[in-house]
Amino acid sequence: MNNSHSGVEAKIGTVIVPAEAYISPEYARAEGEKLWPKVWQIACRVEELESVGDYVTYDILDESIIVVRSAVNKISAYYNVCQHRGRRLTEGCGHSKRFYCRFHGWSWNLDGSNHSVLDEEDWGGTLDTEDIRLPAVKADTWGGWVWINMDPDSESLAHFLGEAKGLLDPFDLDKMRFKWRQWLYFPCNWKTALEAFSESYHVHASHPQLNRWVSYKNWSRAVGLHGHHGVLRPRDSGDPQQGGSGFLGVNVRGDADARVAAIEQIEEMVRTLDATTPRGVVDAARRLIDELPEGTSAADVSAHLMASARRDDEARGIHWPEITPEQLQAAGYDWHLFPNSVVLPSLTSALCYRARPNGYDPDSCIFEVCALERFAEGEAPETEWVYEPDQSEEKWRLILTQDFSNMPEVQRGMKSKGYSGARTNPVEEVAISHFHEVLSRYMGIGAPSPVKQRDSQ
Ligand code: FES
Ligand SMILES: [Fe+2]
Repeated sequence: MNNSHSGVEAKIGTVIVPAEAYISPEYARAEGEKLWPKVWQIACRVEELESVGDYVTYDILDESIIVVRSAVNKISAYYNVCQHRGRRLTEGCGHSKRFYCRFHGWSWNLDGSNHSVLDEEDWGGTLDTEDIRLPAVKADTWGGWVWINMDPDSESLAHFLGEAKGLLDPFDLDKMRFKWRQWLYFPCNWKTALEAFSESYHVHASHPQLNRWVSYKNWSRAVGLHGHHGVLRPRDSGDPQQGGSGFLGVNVRGDADARVAAIEQIEEMVRTLDATTPRGVVDAARRLIDELPEGTSAADVSAHLMASARRDDEARGIHWPEITPEQLQAAGYDWHLFPNSVVLPSLTSALCYRARPNGYDPDSCIFEVCALERFAEGEAPETEWVYEPDQSEEKWRLILTQDFSNMPEVQRGMKSKGYSGARTNPVEEVAISHFHEVLSRYMGIGAPSPVKQRDSQ
């Protein structure tokens, strides 16, 4: 990123993503034909398929896919449909030696081959076992997730992830495990929901309590099909010493005691989000006052905090990844993985979102949030997906409820005759305009308006 921007300045300001993509029933239906059957999408975490026979049912619109650990070192995916008369075989998750159809009792082995057909002789030898295999869906793993793709001719997952993979690999996301996971139906389009977490331009107004620390301006850029953003600089003059990772840095205004600021900030993030503050960092913050003299600079507090948390974690058997400051800077802190996932990676934790359409209603989606964290061997908590429709602060914590408050209002607002489309910020919301450029390619329609990215400044 460089600082020259004068030439493009006059042309920006009218980047428009039309509302149709969010509110049109025809568009929602077309996504069912042109998008979802063609893309790699996260089906579940690998940790959900620990033992041979563990399975998860992944539903997307009218499709349902069984993702299963079919052998010790193999994860397979199949269309979830009985080859007799079409009953679905599984729902939710579970463990089974075979897939059994409750209608007439046909069954399949974990490798997808048919195991039994009641009264098979009735077919007089005409049932071809290959014909009645469970049809396979492509499956692969990366980042600790199982990804599926219904298009047999699709590019590989590695190719689909492209440069994003290289930028995210240093975080070793596959070593993280669920800390908690919750979901709900949301009265907005799946993209409206996802985009509430694909930029941090909203933080200043939507999470005003965080301005007490520092209000950041962010860079945002496209990476292949995907997009990401990270901290560019504080919006006000701030303190040049402030740490600035957005989540784990120490952000201090003026002459505040950086040790106290660090503790208060981390405690606040525990209280209002509980997803970006792994235990090692929280414990290390609580030791700061004892370990550092008053007047320690924010940069030194930040460095000490991280070194201390890392040492503490190593002693507890939690191994941090080898990642350089340059790699951290290059990765940024928030990724939109096309089409429907957002991941905020940090050294020892990650906050993740996934949004899916809820049927063909453009105004409804399935929205999931989970916190991942590094744990010592065998110490990851037992978790399951918790359906939590109650949007209270008690159930979802302040920061998410603040985000939630925008999503249905945006969905409603976009239907107004007084709205012509989104004017995405060409510095801080590039990931969103790029998302729509990529989406329009899948949808076979021209990009609504050329996406102009402005150099960060
Ligand atoms: S529909 Fe499955 S066995 Fe008949
Ligand atoms: Fe937010």
